[in-house]
Amino acid sequence: MDLSERYPSLRVSRHPLVAHKLSILRDVGTDTKKFRELVRELTWLLGYEAMADLETRPRRVETPLEAMDGGEVDPRVGLVPVLRAGLGMVDAMLELIPTAQVWHIGLYRDERTLKPVEYYNKLPDAATVQVCLILDPMLATGGSSAATVDILKAWGAARIKQVSLIAAPEGVATLSGQHPDVDIHVAAVDRELNERGYIVPGLGDAGDRQFGTFAGPSSEPGHEPGDETAEVVRRLQRDLARD
Ligand code: PRP
Ligand code: URA
Repeated sequence: MDLSERYPSLRVSRHPLVAHKLSILRDVGTDTKKFRELVRELTWLLGYEAMADLETRPRRVETPLEAMDGGEVDPRVGLVPVLRAGLGMVDAMLELIPTAQVWHIGLYRDERTLKPVEYYNKLPDAATVQVCLILDPMLATGGSSAATVDILKAWGAARIKQVSLIAAPEGVATLSGQHPDVDIHVAAVDRELNERGYIVPGLGDAGDRQFGTFAGPSSEPGHEPGDETAEVVRRLQRDLARD
């Protein structure tokens, strides 16, 4: 299924380095240190693509030889990492755009209902940036991402982009259904969600793999799902098939 035709806001990177690094990232044998390095490198590549349409304003520059008209990024950019897994994407983005503000949003996904639960938000009353880049490695059901966009739109953010490493088709459908104006930049769209709401083939739990916090079999992707969770996934899959 070519989702980019169905969802015009979806941008799947075609860069060979992205495909190469993503394969190593997915590998169950990739250790925590290497995993973090790859998240950083992939973010750099996806961030470069995600910011390709930022406007520039003229900037007069004196080179050692003469004066010339250069350019500088015009809009104020905010990076919005979704805790925890989005944290690993911040440094690479700040290397690309050191003037960006960083606004953290804390959300975790309830394991049973797969609904996002907000636990950290220190946004001031009015938006201080014009473009927001939401950073979260995984776009699974799309619930966390859609909730983050809701928060940012209520804040007054004029333009919002989602930057993720891997998306599920169900998550793309949810996010672009609720927020068709939000560009979705990803390294890959995988086959589907499993009955626990994990992306397959995916890479497992992006937070646990970055921070070395695998807590045992009960949190393992593929562990016996609850009926309620599996029903949430089936509903998302029916919505996707109807689209
Ligand atoms: C993961 C991931 C996203 C969310 C995606 O976070 O980093 O935030 O799940 O799932 P969704 O699209 O179905 O909402 P998690 O809840 O595991 O929290 P963590 O980053 O603290 O591990
Ligand atoms: N969160 C993850 O870290 N991985 C998934 O596959 C889904 C949600």
